[in-house]
Amino acid sequence: MHLFQYRDGKLHCEDVDLACVAEKFGTPLYVYSAGTILDHYTRLDAALAPLDHLIWYAVKANSNRAILKLLADADAGFDIVSGGELFRVLRAGGDPAKCTFAGVGKSREEIEFACEQGVYSFNVESESELEQIDQIAGEKNLRAPIALRANPDVDPHTHEYISTGSRENKFGIALGQLLAVYEGAAKMRNIEIVGVQMHIGSQITEAEPFASAIRKTTPLVRELKSKYGIKFFSIGGGMGIIYRRALESGSGKWWHDHGGESSAFSIRDYADAIVPPLRDLGIRILVEPGRFLVGSAGVLLTRVRYIKQTAEKKFAIVDAGMNDLIRPALYHSYHEIAPVKEPSKSPNLEKIDIVGPVCESGDFFALDREMPEVHEGDLLAIMSAGAYGFVMASNYNSRPSPAEALVHGDKVSLIRERQTWEDLVRGEVEPL
Ligand code: LLP
Repeated sequence: MHLFQYRDGKLHCEDVDLACVAEKFGTPLYVYSAGTILDHYTRLDAALAPLDHLIWYAVKANSNRAILKLLADADAGFDIVSGGELFRVLRAGGDPAKCTFAGVGKSREEIEFACEQGVYSFNVESESELEQIDQIAGEKNLRAPIALRANPDVDPHTHEYISTGSRENKFGIALGQLLAVYEGAAKMRNIEIVGVQMHIGSQITEAEPFASAIRKTTPLVRELKSKYGIKFFSIGGGMGIIYRRALESGSGKWWHDHGGESSAFSIRDYADAIVPPLRDLGIRILVEPGRFLVGSAGVLLTRVRYIKQTAEKKFAIVDAGMNDLIRPALYHSYHEIAPVKEPSKSPNLEKIDIVGPVCESGDFFALDREMPEVHEGDLLAIMSAGAYGFVMASNYNSRPSPAEALVHGDKVSLIRERQTWEDLVRGEVEPL
């Protein structure tokens, strides 16, 4: 459930009027709801209660320190993919012993840092990486805890760019080769085998691919448990959310309604599919959700700068661009766009392209979207932008990155300042 609703004709995040937040901090502006994040965390935790489980948030989805702190305080651990993410977790007061370090291309410097900090496990993607970790741990007189990433070869039915668990992907080690690689790892002096991991993709909208990947992997997990005494099995993240979803509003027919659920399938369906095959394993289960926790907990607020009517189309040119939120341009992904001022009960609907100011035709948030009439100066909320939004932002077209704010109840705090033009050139150096 997310906590963005119209109240008295104005879109609110929890108890805060979004128009006031935009006034205070300017646009484009990411606004996150702490209550929504905590609600998702608590529900997932409750659904997995029959298992000895840990929820380790995939930091890549949204790595603002305030979000990490919120989750650390709720007792979450973290799935990190870089030294930078580990650094952020530490700065947020997170515990390195509650971090798994994933990713196909860890650098020497990153491995050294993670060894020194004492992460829970390196999730290893290849034999070469394993050798590198063994060597670095040896130089430090340590034994590095590792899990190998299994590639179960299942089709998660999601966008090809974010599908990771099939044979053609660069991720993981095929099930047929995994035992041999574990045997090699067992012989390495500075490696300690502690677990096994997998992650089949992101924005997965059915429970079955998760269940199928688990079914394929469990025989191996049993074998690893008896051979090496592994202590955990991480089943990755990937739970999809509903991007086409209704807001509690009057009767505006441009909204779709999914009965208040934030995940694409219910958390119950997910638990029903995965808990039974995992319960019998008698091993600790890790999950690494990113989008599920934060996706629908964030919006990108943007103001309409100009309306442009051409012979073919009507465009609303807004002050956010593809550099602020690249998902529509990169994956053609759909985000609901809600006027912050609630439209009347039977608004005039029109088809419109919502586009940014960047010099590319790919710079759009919606094409031919049926919406209540949009005017210059209107404030719009691009919904479900809490995951893979700000973290994928760039300074393309020399646009300073947007600010971020966090709402909790009736309080709103700025959690990242808007960049300035000075910030854009900081670090650039004159050639000799
Ligand atoms: N664990 C691993 C090893 C991962 O690679 C990922 C995401 C996750 C967990 C978290 O997945 P989630 O629960 O958020 O689906 N930029 C794309 C998504 C890329 C996901 C990459 N890996 C997007 O905007 O849709």
